[in-house]
Amino acid sequence: MAVVDAKMSDYFQRYIVPLAGVFIVLRILHYVLSKLHPIVFAKICPIVSRKHHLEIKEHKDKLFSDLAATRKDSNQRFFALEIGCGPGANFALYPANTSLLVVEPNSRFEESAVKNAAKHPSLEISKFLAMGAEDLKGHVEDSSQDAVVSTLTMCSVDDIDAVVSEIHRILKPGGRFYFVEHTETHNKNSWTHFMQRMMVPVVFTLAHCQINNTFYVSVDRAGFSKVQYTKMDIAKCPRLFRSHVLGFAVK
Ligand SMILES: C[S@@+](CC[C@H](N)C(=O)[O-])C[C@H]1O[C@@H](n2cnc3c(N)ncnc32)[C@H](O)[C@@H]1O
Ligand SMILES: *[C@@H]1O[C@H](CO)[C@@H](O)[C@H](O)[C@H]1NC(C)=O
Ligand SMILES: *[C@@H]1O[C@H](CO)[C@@H](O)[C@H](O)[C@H]1NC(C)=O
Repeated sequence: MAVVDAKMSDYFQRYIVPLAGVFIVLRILHYVLSKLHPIVFAKICPIVSRKHHLEIKEHKDKLFSDLAATRKDSNQRFFALEIGCGPGANFALYPANTSLLVVEPNSRFEESAVKNAAKHPSLEISKFLAMGAEDLKGHVEDSSQDAVVSTLTMCSVDDIDAVVSEIHRILKPGGRFYFVEHTETHNKNSWTHFMQRMMVPVVFTLAHCQINNTFYVSVDRAGFSKVQYTKMDIAKCPRLFRSHVLGFAVK
């Protein structure tokens, strides 16, 4: 009996204790990362996001060129909502007299967004909602927006279906949801697709970004009257972030 006990204790000390130690360290690391993430991201995002913005700018400019198409003649203002605006990479693309509602859960972006908005006289931020876009009831009225814009945000939201359903709710009939997002690799038989699958948890832990998202599936089934998008690979972007889906959906 004593021999078995000694063996058990030896086994315990050799394997279970170190394993439990590693587990606890990983949990602590995970906790610290989740707390640090909004702070670090607010510093890194403007740099990474600016680079990505320049890589896709040509496509963004083209897509956004008819952003004001839904502006009603009777109202001279253009009511738009942008989800996850970060420091405001898209602010230059809004038409004259835009009244912009911003939904951005990382409140550390508020200062840079407001500062950046001041450079664009075409645009006025009517409200900065420091929250996720999953449930905007009580904050944004039904059928109140001419357009909703999302760029590189769908990979970060917690619940894509909920966000898309809220976008549909708040758009005016005929209003449009514009999106430019990076997604799961389009070519399923590629090495990149395999690498992307392998890297999903790593990128998610480090950057809260779901690199294999297929947000457009949610747009397809959200009840829009028309959905139009293009799938493309943008060669200038890093491999894991190369596949994009851009277009718009009409309520
Ligand atoms: C990769 S950044 C993109 C920033 C900006 N749209 C751009 O194109 O440069 C993703 C943004 O989504 C925001 N975000 C994360 N979860 C969100 C949610 N549930 N609802 C709305 N925005 C969210 C993040 O705070 C971050 O600013
Ligand atoms: C912007 O608003 C001003 C004043 O309300 C108006 O005169 C102008 O025509 C508007 N611009 C557009 C593009 O609607
Ligand atoms: C993304 O990858 C994760 C982990 O491999 C998987 O659980 C999830 O279903 C994938 N998402 C999509 C939309 O394919």
